[in-house]
Amino acid sequence: MSDQLAPVGGGTGPVRGTAGYAEAADALAVQYEEVTFGEVHGDVLRLVPAEAGRILDVGAGTGRDAAALVARGHAVVAVEPTAELRAHGQRIHAGSGIDWVDDVLPDLTLSRHPGRFDAVFATAVWMHLDAAERRRAMARIAALLVPGGRFFVNLRHGPVPEGRHMFDVSAAETAELGAACGLRTVHRSERPDLHGRDGVRWSSLVFQSREADSSLG
Ligand SMILES: C[S@@+](CC[C@H](N)C(=O)[O-])C[C@H]1O[C@@H](n2cnc3c(N)ncnc32)[C@H](O)[C@@H]1O
Repeated sequence: MSDQLAPVGGGTGPVRGTAGYAEAADALAVQYEEVTFGEVHGDVLRLVPAEAGRILDVGAGTGRDAAALVARGHAVVAVEPTAELRAHGQRIHAGSGIDWVDDVLPDLTLSRHPGRFDAVFATAVWMHLDAAERRRAMARIAALLVPGGRFFVNLRHGPVPEGRHMFDVSAAETAELGAACGLRTVHRSERPDLHGRDGVRWSSLVFQSREADSSLG
C-alpha cells in the first residue's frame, strides 16, 4: 500500500487536510462549479438514492454536489471545514436549502445533526486523510449510514498540488477498509480528470451497508 506524505504537505494544525484551500478558495470556487454533479458522478448515478432521503456531503467545497442532491429532492447536510469555501458555497447556492456545517473528518461530530443518513458523499476528500484517520473515518461513516445506505468516495491520484496535504490512497486499500467496517463494495471504476490535468486520474467507489435483516443470517 502506498501512503506517502506529499513532500510539500501542509501545516501541523488539527485539520491538516485543509492546507492550501483557504488561500486558493476564490479560484477553486470557480473551478469546482465548472463541472456538474452529473459529470463528476456519471459512473454511479444509478446508485444515488432515487427516493427523497437524508444525505451527507463531507468536504463539500462550494456545495456543487449538495445543491444537485437538494434539487433531486434530498435533505442535504454539507460539511465543509474551510470557512472561505463554505462562504462561497453559501453565496453561490443561496436559497438552495443546503444545511451547511463546520465539521471535520475523521471524527465528524455532527452535534446539531444527530441520526443516520441514506447516503454519504466524500468527493475528492478521502486522500487528505492519513492512514489512521482513514480507519477512524471509515468506521464513523459506516456508523452514520442507515441499513442499506451507500457511501460514495472519489479518490484523486497523481501529482499533488502545491501546498496540499495529500496521500496516495489506492482504491484497493479503500475497499478493504470498507469491508473491515461492514461495507460492501458495489461499484469501483476509474476515469480521467474532467479538467484535463496532466497525470491526474480518479477512482470512484460506492459502498453499501448491510440491510437490517441480512445481518441476522
Ligand atoms: C478537492 S476539495 C473537493 C470539494 C468538493 N467535494 C468537490 O468535489 O468539488 C476537498 C475538500 O475537502 C475539505 N477537507 C479537507 N480535509 C478535510 C477533512 N479532514 N474533513 C472534511 N473535509 C476536509 C477541503 O476543505 C476541501 O473543501
